[in-house]
Amino acid sequence: MTQRFSNLSRRQFLGGLASSALVVGAGGLFMPALGQDNLLDFRLGADPLLLHFNENSLGMSPMAIKAVQDVAVNAANRYPDNFVADLRETLGKRHGVPTEQVILGNGSTEVIQAIVTVAARMGAKVIEPDPTFGDVRRYAKAEGMQVIAVPVGGDFVTDIAALRAAAEATGGPLLINICNPNNPTGTIVDSTALFNWIDAAPDDHIFLLDEAYVDYAEQNPAFKSGLALVQAGRENVVVTRTFSKVYGMAGMRIGYGLAAPKTAKSVRRFSANFNLSATGSAAALASLKDEAYREASVASNARGRATLLETLDGLGLMHIESNTNFVLHRINSDVKPYQDRMMANGVRVGRRMTADEGWNRISIGTPDEMVEFTRVLRAFRERGWV
Ligand SMILES: Cc1ncc(COP(=O)(O)O)c(C=O)c1O
Repeated sequence: MTQRFSNLSRRQFLGGLASSALVVGAGGLFMPALGQDNLLDFRLGADPLLLHFNENSLGMSPMAIKAVQDVAVNAANRYPDNFVADLRETLGKRHGVPTEQVILGNGSTEVIQAIVTVAARMGAKVIEPDPTFGDVRRYAKAEGMQVIAVPVGGDFVTDIAALRAAAEATGGPLLINICNPNNPTGTIVDSTALFNWIDAAPDDHIFLLDEAYVDYAEQNPAFKSGLALVQAGRENVVVTRTFSKVYGMAGMRIGYGLAAPKTAKSVRRFSANFNLSATGSAAALASLKDEAYREASVASNARGRATLLETLDGLGLMHIESNTNFVLHRINSDVKPYQDRMMANGVRVGRRMTADEGWNRISIGTPDEMVEFTRVLRAFRERGWV
């Protein structure tokens, strides 16, 4: 599979590195111009490494690209109803639930937003691990909801017992946000503890199980999806998934939720009408037909991760078990100077996401990108920066 890069020019990314002013970098963000002594020769003029957003550097399946091109030429002037209906039906069949139980979103973040809105109308508070993916908190704060954050354990694993205790102590309607595997830690939850809790929970405790990274997590036999609970008709569970990760479609904005009938209906009420594009829906449909691409994408991630972990181990930089397309690892320094130095060398890494300094989240790019990233990391070690 060929390696594809975003169409940011090298000049845009690395331009003016040695100057003393701030320069505009990838994504329009300002990047600090550090002195020459922070620059690695072999990175000058090199392609940027965008390893900060857990995207998929492979790009979309060739079948998805073709579908987008066809739709752009032949159907972009029409509302996308047929593509959207087809996608919902296909996803329902794929996950063993009726079409009505599929909630489509402009990215899974839109489904998450609708779930938070439903919970807000119930007068719910939010309970979630800390750290975790920030969208629920963001929307909940906008709704004026109280958010109760329960720190992950010292091993960075989501502490289901502590979350359950917090839920029981709080009582009343709750939205319980479980990102599984969790972002930014990459860890999976203890599924027995979670499922026992869901079994015992009252109906007004809604569990959002965010499975954005499910395709990677499935490689771990200990991972258990919440899909079976939806299939069993549990109205207080919503599972969300996305085409942004394994299918390399972050820019197309397609995600979905799966819920039992009544819950799916109430969440759908808060989704925008015509919220998916024809191109995005067609790309998603084509991706679902291209199982070879999905498998190659998972395998590519495993190869890139192996390269990364080998280097981290070689450098003695501890890392947390990853069930995703990113790894949380030690950097032995504060995040900001590390991030700035990486950026100055054309590498975008995660921002600070943990309570303590000294950790960074790195996305897994293509195997070639990870060879290059590990070269950078080793050069950082030679200079005493990690
Ligand atoms: C855990 C988690 N959920 C949801 C999303 C958002 O996905 P989407 O692109 O489908 O909105 C992300 C994106 O990084 C994520 O990490």
